[in-house]
Amino acid sequence: MSGGSVLQTNRSHGRRRCATFTLKSPAFSTLCGTTVKKQPDRLFAQPLAQVPDFAFNEDVVRVFPDMIKRSVPGYPTIVENIGVLAGQFAQPHSVLYDLGSSLGAVTQALRRHVQVEDCRVIAVDNSSAMVERCREYLHAQDSMFQELLPVEVIEADILSLTFQPASLVALNFTLQFIQPEQRLALLTRIRQALLPGGALILSEKLRFEDAEQQQLLGDLHIAFKRANGYSELEIAQKRSAIEKVMLPDSLEQHRERLLAAGFSKVVPWFQCLNFASLIALP
Ligand SMILES: C[S@@+](CC[C@H](N)C(=O)[O-])C[C@H]1O[C@@H](n2cnc3c(N)ncnc32)[C@H](O)[C@@H]1O
Repeated sequence: MSGGSVLQTNRSHGRRRCATFTLKSPAFSTLCGTTVKKQPDRLFAQPLAQVPDFAFNEDVVRVFPDMIKRSVPGYPTIVENIGVLAGQFAQPHSVLYDLGSSLGAVTQALRRHVQVEDCRVIAVDNSSAMVERCREYLHAQDSMFQELLPVEVIEADILSLTFQPASLVALNFTLQFIQPEQRLALLTRIRQALLPGGALILSEKLRFEDAEQQQLLGDLHIAFKRANGYSELEIAQKRSAIEKVMLPDSLEQHRERLLAAGFSKVVPWFQCLNFASLIALP
């Protein structure tokens, strides 16, 4: 499609109607229902004299939709289904939080799937580059779909956020970037903000106590990345960039910590290789 062309469609996605809209530039497209710009991730393709620690900066923002889809097994399924699950927990007059929202993929899924009176989404991230692009994408989503939930995007540290009463909180691959000693306090504050009948959805990369299981699922994850076009160099450099800033826990650690934070039940609902998503009930 060329820039300036007019796209008219009655296609519906989920229960949301796709608006008739004028596409002013070909910059945005919808991938699995999510409005994004698609630029291939080549960030670690060339040999780097020194690999810097991974950061959610402008370079990462540019390629993030491609990077996360090619690196996290099951990511599109998890994102879409967080919207579906949220539809079961969302309550009238409450907030749905997307914490560590990045470009707002989960926020977009929540807005597509949840139709509950006076519900709104609050997306929070502490990377200004992410927040700026997230706002652009949500604006584009607004021009493509009608009757979406209202949304606010806040640039803030989730560790110092005052939570409003919430029926759904999503931490989609965010907790693993929080310092381990700060995780329990954050989950405790989330638990306190959750309304009865609400839920926390927590997705994380897992590590495994059993060395053989750790090795097998680690190797299969590398095979997944190779199959998605990453070279050995890209895989090695990305790993060395991220290993000090992303610290995964085991499923048992997550379960124990969530119970210690006051959650009553932890239900794994998805796992693909060493990536999983849990529902934690208040
Ligand atoms: C792996 S990304 C999350 C992906 C996103 N939830 C999705 O589903 O596409 C982790 C995000 O958490 C954000 N983040 C990390 N620590 C944070 C903090 N303390 N407060 C707010 N955001 C944080 C990062 O800036 C990054 O955008």
